[in-house]
Amino acid sequence: MDQSSVREATAAASATQIQHVFDLCADDMVLVNGLIRKSLNSDVVLIRQISEYIIGSGGKRLRPMLVLLAARACGYRGSDHITVAAIIEFIHTATLLHDDVVDESDRRRGQESAHEVWGNAASVLVGDFLYSRSFQMMVTVDSMRVMEVLSDATNTIAEGEVEQLLNMHDPEVSEKSYFTVIEKKTAKLFEAACQLGAVLAGKPELEQPLAHFGRELGAAFQVADDVLDYTADAVTLGKNVGDDLAEGKPTLPLILSRKYLQAEQQALVDDTIRQGGIDRIDQIVDLIRSTGALDETMEVARNRSRAAVASVAALPATDWKDALMDLAAYSVSRRF
Ligand code: IPE
Ligand code: IPE
Ligand code: MG
Ligand code: MG
Ligand code: MG
Repeated sequence: MDQSSVREATAAASATQIQHVFDLCADDMVLVNGLIRKSLNSDVVLIRQISEYIIGSGGKRLRPMLVLLAARACGYRGSDHITVAAIIEFIHTATLLHDDVVDESDRRRGQESAHEVWGNAASVLVGDFLYSRSFQMMVTVDSMRVMEVLSDATNTIAEGEVEQLLNMHDPEVSEKSYFTVIEKKTAKLFEAACQLGAVLAGKPELEQPLAHFGRELGAAFQVADDVLDYTADAVTLGKNVGDDLAEGKPTLPLILSRKYLQAEQQALVDDTIRQGGIDRIDQIVDLIRSTGALDETMEVARNRSRAAVASVAALPATDWKDALMDLAAYSVSRRF
Protein backbone atom coordinates (compact mmCIF):
# COMPACT_ATOMS: atom_id res chain seq x y z
CA MET A 1 0.00 0.00 0.00
CA ASP A 2 1.34 3.39 -1.06
CA GLN A 3 2.36 5.38 2.04
CA SER A 4 1.07 8.73 0.84
CA SER A 5 -2.31 7.17 0.02
CA VAL A 6 -2.54 5.72 3.48
CA ARG A 7 -1.61 9.08 4.98
CA GLU A 8 -4.23 10.76 2.82
CA ALA A 9 -6.88 8.23 3.78
CA THR A 10 -6.34 8.77 7.47
CA ALA A 11 -5.15 12.39 7.63
CA ALA A 12 -8.51 13.89 8.37
CA ALA A 13 -9.32 11.17 10.86
CA SER A 14 -6.70 12.01 13.45
CA ALA A 15 -8.13 13.52 16.58
CA THR A 16 -11.71 13.26 15.39
CA GLN A 17 -14.63 11.41 16.93
CA ILE A 18 -15.08 9.25 13.88
CA GLN A 19 -11.79 7.37 13.67
CA HIS A 20 -13.67 4.06 13.68
CA VAL A 21 -15.67 5.15 10.61
CA PHE A 22 -12.45 6.04 8.78
CA ASP A 23 -11.04 2.66 9.79
CA LEU A 24 -14.09 0.87 8.40
CA CYS A 25 -13.69 2.64 5.03
CA ALA A 26 -9.87 2.74 4.98
CA ASP A 27 -9.28 0.11 2.25
CA ASP A 28 -11.92 1.58 -0.07
CA MET A 29 -10.71 5.11 0.70
CA VAL A 30 -7.17 4.23 -0.43
CA LEU A 31 -8.67 3.22 -3.79
CA VAL A 32 -10.77 6.41 -3.94
CA ASN A 33 -7.74 8.59 -3.25
CA GLY A 34 -5.73 6.67 -5.85
CA LEU A 35 -8.43 7.29 -8.46
CA ILE A 36 -8.65 10.95 -7.47
CA ARG A 37 -4.88 11.35 -8.01
CA LYS A 38 -5.00 9.52 -11.33
CA SER A 39 -7.95 11.58 -12.53
CA LEU A 40 -6.17 14.88 -11.90
CA ASN A 41 -3.98 14.11 -14.85
CA SER A 42 -3.64 16.93 -17.38
CA ASP A 43 -0.96 18.25 -19.71
CA VAL A 44 -1.59 21.71 -18.32
CA VAL A 45 0.74 22.25 -15.37
CA LEU A 46 -1.42 24.92 -13.73
CA ILE A 47 -4.37 22.51 -13.57
CA ARG A 48 -2.23 19.91 -11.82
CA GLN A 49 -0.78 22.51 -9.43
CA ILE A 50 -4.09 23.98 -8.30
CA SER A 51 -5.99 20.72 -8.07
CA GLU A 52 -3.15 19.04 -6.15
CA TYR A 53 -3.01 22.08 -3.88
CA ILE A 54 -6.63 21.85 -2.82
CA ILE A 55 -7.07 18.07 -2.93
CA GLY A 56 -3.73 17.40 -1.22
CA SER A 57 -4.65 19.72 1.66
CA GLY A 58 -7.03 17.10 2.97
CA GLY A 59 -10.59 17.80 3.79
CA LYS A 60 -12.72 15.41 5.76
CA ARG A 61 -13.75 13.31 2.72
CA LEU A 62 -17.22 12.97 4.24
CA ARG A 63 -19.15 12.82 0.98
CA PRO A 64 -17.12 10.01 -0.62
CA MET A 65 -17.27 8.13 2.67
CA LEU A 66 -21.06 8.36 2.54
CA VAL A 67 -21.07 6.82 -0.96
CA LEU A 68 -18.90 3.93 0.24
CA LEU A 69 -20.92 3.31 3.40
CA ALA A 70 -24.31 3.62 1.67
CA ALA A 71 -23.27 1.19 -1.07
CA ARG A 72 -21.91 -1.33 1.46
CA ALA A 73 -24.96 -0.90 3.72
CA CYS A 74 -27.07 -1.93 0.69
CA GLY A 75 -24.92 -5.02 0.19
CA TYR A 76 -23.06 -3.75 -2.90
CA ARG A 77 -20.16 -5.99 -3.96
CA GLY A 78 -18.86 -4.32 -7.13
CA SER A 79 -16.26 -1.58 -7.64
CA ASP A 80 -18.21 1.35 -9.17
CA HIS A 81 -18.70 2.83 -5.69
CA ILE A 82 -15.02 3.81 -5.80
CA THR A 83 -15.55 5.81 -9.01
CA VAL A 84 -18.77 7.40 -7.75
CA ALA A 85 -17.07 8.38 -4.48
CA ALA A 86 -14.20 10.05 -6.39
CA ILE A 87 -16.71 11.86 -8.64
CA ILE A 88 -18.61 13.19 -5.63
CA GLU A 89 -15.37 14.51 -4.09
CA PHE A 90 -14.44 16.16 -7.42
CA ILE A 91 -17.80 17.91 -7.60
CA HIS A 92 -17.41 19.02 -3.96
CA THR A 93 -13.87 20.30 -4.64
CA ALA A 94 -15.03 22.23 -7.71
CA THR A 95 -17.73 23.94 -5.62
CA LEU A 96 -15.12 24.86 -2.98
CA LEU A 97 -12.84 26.49 -5.58
CA HIS A 98 -15.80 28.50 -6.86
CA ASP A 99 -17.20 29.16 -3.38
CA ASP A 100 -14.04 30.81 -2.07
CA VAL A 101 -13.99 33.18 -5.04
CA VAL A 102 -17.68 34.04 -4.62
CA ASP A 103 -17.37 34.41 -0.82
CA GLU A 104 -13.98 36.17 -1.02
CA SER A 105 -12.71 33.72 1.61
CA ASP A 106 -8.96 33.67 1.89
CA ARG A 107 -8.46 30.47 3.93
CA ARG A 108 -9.49 26.87 3.20
CA ARG A 109 -8.35 23.60 4.78
CA GLY A 110 -5.76 25.36 6.91
CA GLN A 111 -3.98 27.13 4.10
CA GLU A 112 -4.42 30.13 1.80
CA SER A 113 -7.35 29.67 -0.60
CA ALA A 114 -6.31 28.79 -4.16
CA HIS A 115 -7.48 32.17 -5.48
CA GLU A 116 -5.16 33.92 -3.02
CA VAL A 117 -2.24 32.08 -4.59
CA TRP A 118 -3.24 31.90 -8.29
CA GLY A 119 -6.05 34.46 -8.64
CA ASN A 120 -9.80 34.25 -9.25
CA ALA A 121 -9.69 33.38 -12.94
CA ALA A 122 -7.42 30.38 -12.49
CA SER A 123 -9.47 29.12 -9.52
CA VAL A 124 -12.77 29.33 -11.39
CA LEU A 125 -11.36 27.67 -14.48
CA VAL A 126 -9.76 24.80 -12.57
CA GLY A 127 -13.10 24.36 -10.77
CA ASP A 128 -14.64 23.99 -14.23
CA PHE A 129 -11.95 21.44 -15.12
CA LEU A 130 -12.86 19.34 -12.05
CA TYR A 131 -16.58 19.56 -12.86
CA SER A 132 -16.07 18.46 -16.45
CA ARG A 133 -13.61 15.73 -15.44
CA SER A 134 -16.25 14.41 -13.05
CA PHE A 135 -18.65 14.12 -16.01
CA GLN A 136 -16.04 12.19 -18.00
CA MET A 137 -15.70 9.82 -15.03
CA MET A 138 -19.49 9.39 -14.86
CA VAL A 139 -19.50 8.09 -18.40
CA THR A 140 -17.14 5.29 -17.35
CA VAL A 141 -19.76 4.06 -14.83
CA ASP A 142 -22.09 3.60 -17.81
CA SER A 143 -25.36 3.97 -15.90
CA MET A 144 -28.05 6.40 -17.02
CA ARG A 145 -29.49 6.46 -13.49
CA VAL A 146 -26.14 7.48 -11.98
CA MET A 147 -25.83 10.21 -14.64
CA GLU A 148 -29.33 11.42 -13.83
CA VAL A 149 -28.79 11.69 -10.07
CA LEU A 150 -25.41 13.42 -10.44
CA SER A 151 -26.38 15.85 -13.17
CA ASP A 152 -29.52 16.85 -11.23
CA ALA A 153 -27.41 17.37 -8.10
CA THR A 154 -24.80 19.60 -9.79
CA ASN A 155 -27.54 21.67 -11.42
CA THR A 156 -29.35 22.10 -8.09
CA ILE A 157 -26.12 23.17 -6.34
CA ALA A 158 -25.60 25.91 -8.93
CA GLU A 159 -29.20 27.03 -8.50
CA GLY A 160 -28.77 27.19 -4.71
CA GLU A 161 -25.63 29.32 -4.98
CA VAL A 162 -27.40 31.78 -7.30
CA GLU A 163 -30.44 31.96 -4.98
CA GLN A 164 -28.10 32.67 -2.09
CA LEU A 165 -26.51 35.47 -4.11
CA LEU A 166 -29.94 37.09 -4.43
CA ASN A 167 -30.30 36.99 -0.62
CA MET A 168 -27.02 38.76 0.06
CA HIS A 169 -27.17 41.97 2.08
CA ASP A 170 -30.86 41.38 2.83
CA PRO A 171 -31.34 41.33 6.62
CA GLU A 172 -34.95 40.20 6.26
CA VAL A 173 -34.34 36.90 4.52
CA SER A 174 -36.91 34.33 5.70
CA GLU A 175 -36.20 31.00 7.35
CA LYS A 176 -37.95 29.35 4.42
CA SER A 177 -35.61 30.97 1.93
CA TYR A 178 -32.56 30.05 4.05
CA PHE A 179 -33.59 26.37 4.14
CA THR A 180 -34.29 26.33 0.39
CA VAL A 181 -30.76 27.61 -0.22
CA ILE A 182 -28.96 25.16 2.07
CA GLU A 183 -30.98 22.21 0.80
CA LYS A 184 -29.87 23.07 -2.71
CA LYS A 185 -26.27 24.23 -2.27
CA THR A 186 -25.22 21.64 0.34
CA ALA A 187 -27.79 18.95 1.19
CA LYS A 188 -28.35 17.94 -2.43
CA LEU A 189 -24.83 16.54 -2.88
CA PHE A 190 -25.10 14.57 0.39
CA GLU A 191 -28.46 13.28 -0.84
CA ALA A 192 -26.97 12.16 -4.16
CA ALA A 193 -23.99 10.52 -2.40
CA CYS A 194 -26.25 8.38 -0.20
CA GLN A 195 -28.91 7.63 -2.82
CA LEU A 196 -26.27 6.41 -5.25
CA GLY A 197 -25.29 3.67 -2.81
CA ALA A 198 -28.75 2.13 -3.34
CA VAL A 199 -28.66 2.83 -7.09
CA LEU A 200 -25.35 0.97 -7.45
CA ALA A 201 -26.56 -1.94 -5.31
CA GLY A 202 -29.71 -2.26 -7.43
CA LYS A 203 -31.97 -1.73 -4.38
CA PRO A 204 -34.62 0.74 -5.59
CA GLU A 205 -36.59 0.36 -2.35
CA LEU A 206 -33.63 1.80 -0.39
CA GLU A 207 -33.11 4.83 -2.67
CA GLN A 208 -35.65 7.08 -0.94
CA PRO A 209 -34.65 6.23 2.67
CA LEU A 210 -30.99 6.86 1.80
CA ALA A 211 -31.76 10.03 -0.20
CA HIS A 212 -33.72 11.32 2.78
CA PHE A 213 -30.91 10.36 5.15
CA GLY A 214 -28.40 12.29 3.02
CA ARG A 215 -30.64 15.33 2.67
CA GLU A 216 -31.24 15.59 6.42
CA LEU A 217 -27.57 14.98 7.25
CA GLY A 218 -26.53 17.60 4.67
CA ALA A 219 -28.93 20.20 6.01
CA ALA A 220 -27.74 19.48 9.57
CA PHE A 221 -24.14 19.78 8.35
CA GLN A 222 -24.70 23.22 6.77
CA VAL A 223 -26.68 24.59 9.72
CA ALA A 224 -23.79 23.49 11.99
CA ASP A 225 -21.32 25.08 9.55
CA ASP A 226 -23.22 28.36 9.85
CA VAL A 227 -22.92 28.20 13.64
CA LEU A 228 -19.21 27.34 13.39
CA ASP A 229 -18.77 30.45 11.24
CA TYR A 230 -19.69 32.45 14.36
CA THR A 231 -18.20 30.35 17.12
CA ALA A 232 -15.30 28.18 15.93
CA ASP A 233 -11.61 28.54 16.49
CA ALA A 234 -10.21 29.54 13.08
CA VAL A 235 -7.09 27.35 13.36
CA THR A 236 -9.12 24.24 14.17
CA LEU A 237 -11.72 25.11 11.53
CA GLY A 238 -9.07 25.70 8.85
CA LYS A 239 -11.20 28.56 7.52
CA ASN A 240 -11.76 32.13 8.64
CA VAL A 241 -14.41 32.72 11.26
CA GLY A 242 -16.92 35.50 10.61
CA ASP A 243 -16.82 35.26 6.82
CA ASP A 244 -20.62 35.02 6.54
CA LEU A 245 -21.19 38.25 8.41
CA ALA A 246 -18.25 39.91 6.67
CA GLU A 247 -19.78 39.26 3.27
CA GLY A 248 -23.28 40.25 4.38
CA LYS A 249 -24.74 36.71 4.27
CA PRO A 250 -27.70 36.26 6.63
CA THR A 251 -27.62 32.69 8.01
CA LEU A 252 -29.85 30.93 10.55
CA PRO A 253 -28.27 32.26 13.79
CA LEU A 254 -28.89 35.78 12.56
CA ILE A 255 -32.37 35.05 11.24
CA LEU A 256 -33.45 33.42 14.53
CA SER A 257 -31.98 36.23 16.63
CA ARG A 258 -34.41 38.73 15.07
CA LYS A 259 -37.28 37.83 17.34
CA TYR A 260 -35.25 38.60 20.47
CA LEU A 261 -33.39 41.80 19.58
CA GLN A 262 -34.36 45.30 20.70
CA ALA A 263 -34.92 47.85 17.94
CA GLU A 264 -31.50 49.47 18.20
CA GLN A 265 -29.69 46.13 18.43
CA GLN A 266 -31.60 45.01 15.35
CA ALA A 267 -30.59 48.19 13.53
CA LEU A 268 -26.93 47.41 14.23
CA VAL A 269 -27.24 43.86 12.89
CA ASP A 270 -29.22 45.00 9.82
CA ASP A 271 -26.67 47.66 9.08
CA THR A 272 -23.82 45.13 9.25
CA ILE A 273 -25.63 42.75 6.88
CA ARG A 274 -26.34 45.57 4.43
CA GLN A 275 -22.76 46.81 4.41
CA GLY A 276 -20.83 43.64 5.24
CA GLY A 277 -17.53 43.97 7.08
CA ILE A 278 -15.76 42.25 9.90
CA ASP A 279 -15.24 45.28 12.20
CA ARG A 280 -18.22 44.58 14.42
CA ILE A 281 -18.04 40.78 14.44
CA ASP A 282 -17.27 40.48 18.18
CA GLN A 283 -20.10 42.80 19.10
CA ILE A 284 -22.59 41.01 16.82
CA VAL A 285 -21.54 37.54 18.01
CA ASP A 286 -22.03 38.65 21.63
CA LEU A 287 -25.41 40.06 20.72
CA ILE A 288 -26.56 36.94 18.92
CA ARG A 289 -25.19 34.69 21.66
CA SER A 290 -27.04 36.71 24.31
CA THR A 291 -30.35 35.98 22.56
CA GLY A 292 -29.80 32.22 22.68
CA ALA A 293 -30.10 32.05 18.87
CA LEU A 294 -26.82 30.13 18.47
CA ASP A 295 -28.09 27.37 20.80
CA GLU A 296 -31.46 27.45 19.07
CA THR A 297 -29.72 27.04 15.71
CA MET A 298 -27.73 24.07 16.99
CA GLU A 299 -30.99 22.52 18.18
CA VAL A 300 -32.31 22.84 14.61
CA ALA A 301 -29.15 21.09 13.36
CA ARG A 302 -29.51 18.29 15.92
CA ASN A 303 -33.15 17.77 14.95
CA ARG A 304 -32.20 17.38 11.29
CA SER A 305 -29.43 14.96 12.28
CA ARG A 306 -31.93 12.92 14.33
CA ALA A 307 -34.31 12.90 11.35
CA ALA A 308 -31.45 11.50 9.25
CA VAL A 309 -30.82 8.70 11.74
CA ALA A 310 -34.54 7.83 11.85
CA SER A 311 -34.72 7.48 8.07
CA VAL A 312 -32.22 4.62 7.83
CA ALA A 313 -34.18 2.39 10.21
CA ALA A 314 -35.31 0.31 7.21
CA LEU A 315 -31.73 -0.72 6.36
CA PRO A 316 -30.50 -4.11 7.54
CA ALA A 317 -28.41 -4.00 10.73
CA THR A 318 -24.72 -3.85 9.75
CA ASP A 319 -21.56 -2.00 10.79
CA TRP A 320 -22.02 0.13 7.66
CA LYS A 321 -25.44 1.30 8.79
CA ASP A 322 -24.07 2.11 12.26
CA ALA A 323 -21.27 4.11 10.64
CA LEU A 324 -23.81 6.10 8.59
CA MET A 325 -25.66 6.96 11.80
CA ASP A 326 -22.38 7.93 13.49
CA LEU A 327 -21.63 10.33 10.62
CA ALA A 328 -25.04 11.94 11.08
CA ALA A 329 -24.22 12.54 14.76
CA TYR A 330 -20.72 13.77 13.86
CA SER A 331 -22.09 16.34 11.40
CA VAL A 332 -23.48 18.33 14.33
CA SER A 333 -20.79 17.68 16.95
CA ARG A 334 -17.76 18.44 14.76
CA ARG A 335 -15.41 21.30 15.50
CA PHE A 336 -14.15 21.59 11.88
C1 IPE B 1 -17.39 22.70 3.28
O1 IPE B 1 -17.57 21.32 3.36
C2 IPE B 1 -18.53 23.29 2.53
C3 IPE B 1 -19.81 23.20 3.26
C4 IPE B 1 -20.85 22.60 2.78
C5 IPE B 1 -19.96 23.83 4.55
P1 IPE B 1 -16.62 20.39 4.27
O2 IPE B 1 -16.61 20.94 5.66
O3 IPE B 1 -17.05 18.99 4.10
O4 IPE B 1 -15.21 20.63 3.60
P2 IPE B 1 -13.90 19.71 3.60
O5 IPE B 1 -13.99 18.87 2.37
O6 IPE B 1 -13.89 18.88 4.85
O7 IPE B 1 -12.76 20.68 3.53
C1 IPE C 1 -21.02 25.91 1.38
O1 IPE C 1 -21.35 27.07 2.05
C2 IPE C 1 -21.41 26.06 -0.02
C3 IPE C 1 -21.01 24.99 -0.94
C4 IPE C 1 -21.79 24.01 -1.19
C5 IPE C 1 -19.74 25.12 -1.63
P1 IPE C 1 -20.24 27.97 2.73
O2 IPE C 1 -19.85 29.10 1.85
O3 IPE C 1 -20.73 28.29 4.10
O4 IPE C 1 -19.00 26.97 2.85
P2 IPE C 1 -17.62 27.33 3.56
O5 IPE C 1 -17.95 27.76 4.98
O6 IPE C 1 -16.99 28.43 2.77
O7 IPE C 1 -16.85 26.03 3.54
MG1 MG D 1 -17.84 29.88 1.65
MG1 MG E 1 -20.59 30.07 0.15
MG1 MG F 1 -19.58 28.29 5.91
